[in-house]
Amino acid sequence: ENFLQQEEILKDKTIIVTAGGTEEAIDPVRFIGNRSSGKMGISIAQAAAEMGAKVKLIYGNVTVALPQDEKIELYHTASSEEMLTKVKHEFAKSDVLIMAAAVADWKMAKVADHKLKKQAYQATLKLTLVKTKDILREVAKHKNPGQLVVGFAAETNDLLKNAEKKLHEKGADLIVANDVSQNVFGNDNDKVTILKQDGTIDEWPEMSKKVIAKKLLIYVNNFMHK
Ligand code: CTP
Ligand code: CA
Repeated sequence: ENFLQQEEILKDKTIIVTAGGTEEAIDPVRFIGNRSSGKMGISIAQAAAEMGAKVKLIYGNVTVALPQDEKIELYHTASSEEMLTKVKHEFAKSDVLIMAAAVADWKMAKVADHKLKKQAYQATLKLTLVKTKDILREVAKHKNPGQLVVGFAAETNDLLKNAEKKLHEKGADLIVANDVSQNVFGNDNDKVTILKQDGTIDEWPEMSKKVIAKKLLIYVNNFMHK
């Protein structure tokens, strides 16, 4: 890890990182969530702070400890809509957004305002869900020329094809493609492939999420100075 020890290359930069899973309420006591641990996003936030950046970590459900660092501001959001509002607000004053959060794709068409009760006659329950807004796409659409937007792509199959599609459809500068068919959730290690708008594809070997975080930020920094 030492060879990655950089000076404060991200000094004067403000970086927003999202981490963990969003929760979409079903009723006052239940929600739809996902298996994201928050480890990757938190590693990125920590690495960015070590490299001198001012960091805003916007997080949902996480199963690992949050960083305690004076350079990292922490903001909790629950639903994808709350996360979108917060990300948009903060991105207006920032240089980079890294969307490592696992954002829900669906939410309740209408959240029940009372706890849904079981009925004796009721063997099944149908929930009507509607699509959430795509935070990455919304933000990338309105970004300024100097701003950089990085997304992830979680895939179980056709990794490159699907990741390329996300790169173009979402308008991100970089996509970090991640094979989630082997359980990466909560793991310390990961294997990612970086895709850029110019068509470059970099397949990285399996490494710890901490090292991936550092390498990704060095990559982002080079990208900003090219
Ligand atoms: N993302 C987002 N807002 C959403 C859904 C996803 O900003 N409502 C972001 C994620 O944080 C990630 C990227 O989009 O950086 C890709 O997420 P992923 O779940 O892999 O792709 P989706 O576009 O949601 O498509 P699918 O889940 O169907 O593969
Ligand atoms: Ca998704």
